Amino acid sequence: MVKPSIIAIDGPAASGKSTLGERLAQRIGYLYFDTGILYRAVTLAALQKFGRVDQEEEVSILSEVVNIDVRPPSLADGRNADVCIDGVDVTWDIRTPEVDANVSQISAYPRVRRAMTLQQRRIGQRGGVVMVGRDIGTVVFPEAGLKIYLIATVEERARRRFHEITARGDTADFKRILAALRKRDAYDSGRKLAPLKPAEDAIILDSEGLSIDQVVERALELVEKA
Ligand code: DC
Repeated sequence: MVKPSIIAIDGPAASGKSTLGERLAQRIGYLYFDTGILYRAVTLAALQKFGRVDQEEEVSILSEVVNIDVRPPSLADGRNADVCIDGVDVTWDIRTPEVDANVSQISAYPRVRRAMTLQQRRIGQRGGVVMVGRDIGTVVFPEAGLKIYLIATVEERARRRFHEITARGDTADFKRILAALRKRDAYDSGRKLAPLKPAEDAIILDSEGLSIDQVVERALELVEKA
């Protein structure tokens, strides 16, 4: 079987893209790359440096010079990669509600997107990669051999996020998670540049009512057919 060299998986927040991307990559021996990490890392760096993210010029310059390193996991604490900013491990710091609340704003800045897109192309052009994000099939790799657009209702995604957080032993407020997801959906889909939307040739995969194993099997069928 000749597999597509680049597999793009896009979709809204908490749609299960990361889990699918990771498992699919594992099954077919590809590199898994979660591009949201880059936007999250810039957001964290901006919050640390400026305490806010609304100064577009400063944040844009920062995104062009910040040293973000993504490597295979060095610890077995649930991470699927080590994320470092200027050599400091920030793997879990990029997953806080504060970063969640600010990342969409930063992702709408054109210079930030350009800088992150260049990094993603550098990583992906070697091939053998499952790349997960919002605009992989539309902007980063429009030539990808397989484009999957993963969807689920916002309520279902909020439920999954809620279970993910409580399973780690942390407390979570379902209504807040739902509201935050709705806000991010609106931001990600409404931005002018590279908005969240399926590529014309993307295959829509609805994960509603499917287990993660079933979603992975369906994706494997798509890889075979591509
Ligand atoms: O997938 P995630 O929730 O970790 O992504 C965090 C944010 O990054 C998301 O709200 C939008 C942005 N993002 C993007 O604009 N383009 C990508 N390719 C990946 C993420």
